Amino acid sequence: MKVVVVDNYEAMSAEAAKLVEEKVRENQEAVLGLATGSTPIGLYKNLIEGNKTRGISYKDVKAVNLDEYLGLSQDHSQSYHTFMKENLFSQIDIKPENTYIPNGIPASAEEECTDYEAVITKVGPVNLQILGIGTNGHIGFNEPGTPGDSITHVVELTKSTRESNGPNFETEAEVPTHAISMGIQTILKGEEIILLASGESKAEAIKMLLTKKVTEDNPASFLWTHDNVTLIVDKDAYQLVK
Ligand code: PGA
Repeated sequence: MKVVVVDNYEAMSAEAAKLVEEKVRENQEAVLGLATGSTPIGLYKNLIEGNKTRGISYKDVKAVNLDEYLGLSQDHSQSYHTFMKENLFSQIDIKPENTYIPNGIPASAEEECTDYEAVITKVGPVNLQILGIGTNGHIGFNEPGTPGDSITHVVELTKSTRESNGPNFETEAEVPTHAISMGIQTILKGEEIILLASGESKAEAIKMLLTKKVTEDNPASFLWTHDNVTLIVDKDAYQLVK
């Protein structure tokens, strides 16, 4: 794992955007694995600017997202479909039919998982995967205890994840309890992975990750088994690393 320590959130976002744009420049049909959450918003802002002012086109790029809440329709204000549309897809020239996110209200969640895994296999391999990290070390919605060989699956969100996501919902009862997420094995099939971490709240998770101990207790630690991972971390998130 290559570790790049930068000053702040803006620098992390710019550094990540540089790597994404390099990938898209060298392969106009690149498959990007994308993430939601507060972490990649700055990256996406940079990509939007690059699309508008630096001649980077996404017209033949494909995007596969990590996860979606179960129980939220595509047009729900807190769905990851809405998040991606608002924060990136509607502002760049990517074709809607080239964007893939699990269906949050499938007839059968199990079938949706199988189908989504098949989509990733068909569209992929993912050339560049963007990841955030949860305060508990989760990647995608793979919470502690998720096996390293997991593929797309239904996950029950932990209390800490529900609490982190809670402020986005009007009432606690509305916070989804389950999600569909690419599994750890699915994520590790990506050819290159960029893990982003910013802010003091991620400091424990980064400290734990950089012990290099690979364990189900820390899903992000499986990234040590991949040979092309770059961690871009800001000083606040890096502060507990000796
Ligand atoms: P955040 O979430 O970007 O909103 O901090 C990251 C994650 O939980 O993966």
